[in-house]
Amino acid sequence: MAPRHLMSPLDFTVEELDKLLDLGNDIEKHPEKYAHACEGKRLATLFYEPSTRTRLSFEAAMMNLGGKVLGFASQDSSSASKGESVSDTIRVVSCYADIVAMRHPKEGAPLVASMKSAVPVINAGDGGHQHPTQTLTDLLTIRSLKGHFDGLTVGFCGDLKFGRTVHSLIEALCRYSGIRFVLISPEELRVPSYVRDGLKAGGFPFQEVVALNEETMKDLDILYMTRAQRERFFNEEDYVRMKDFYILDREKMKIAPEGMLVLHPLPRVNEIAVEVDDDPRAVYFRQAQYGVYIRMALILTLLGISVDA
Ligand code: NCD
Repeated sequence: MAPRHLMSPLDFTVEELDKLLDLGNDIEKHPEKYAHACEGKRLATLFYEPSTRTRLSFEAAMMNLGGKVLGFASQDSSSASKGESVSDTIRVVSCYADIVAMRHPKEGAPLVASMKSAVPVINAGDGGHQHPTQTLTDLLTIRSLKGHFDGLTVGFCGDLKFGRTVHSLIEALCRYSGIRFVLISPEELRVPSYVRDGLKAGGFPFQEVVALNEETMKDLDILYMTRAQRERFFNEEDYVRMKDFYILDREKMKIAPEGMLVLHPLPRVNEIAVEVDDDPRAVYFRQAQYGVYIRMALILTLLGISVDA
């Protein structure tokens, strides 16, 4: 049977996604039940681009399931530096591991790998394109803390042009009803036109604004902050001009709604002042913890392993 991969958050139906999120919540409540579920299984993490959370949370997830991990953390420490193609690497790694998580600076590289792979491949971020496991993390965080998706007003703030987590999460949220989007970015960092066109075509209410102020925050249930994606800017000058465009600080939180949760995929640079971390609405570190539960759920699901209740 052909392995099942995860390239985009839309690869799962809404029902499948619900089941995955339920599994994530069950893992959170009863981690001991799952401690041996992946014994004898191996996860390979092939990271051609830097990462802290995504790679380590995948590795922690597999270890929590009793499995083993292998892999590389940068292009320089793999045969890519000798010119090996992603297709050849995956054919070989398929012989060493039962499941693969791949991050690559080129859009579509994990998809190419999945076509040649004998085992499930998970896209752990491909260039400025998609980051489906961050989206699963974000969805689990939102559903666990807000209880539902329908009818939420979600603000995205920062680098909406290069921020792949933003593109993936918008696409995923569009499948729920009554969602409204407030897209807050400098003119030069607006969402790519394919994202805007998708919102228009689906008839989703959205507005694009520049300022992060009382007016733009007043209806938000979620504020999803992002950093300027330095590595994807064409020159350092533009990055320096944009990097501190938004700073969410205690003063701004005072004028934000009481129920507005602040999410961030992390790493944070300057866009959220450290003083905000103690605000009960700041949930980005909890979000990172949810990332481990949902990756555990994903590994189990793609490997077809079920654990009896
Ligand atoms: C994000 C990414 O890699 O796109 N980080 C992550 O995986 N948690 C966001 C970012 O790097 O800004």
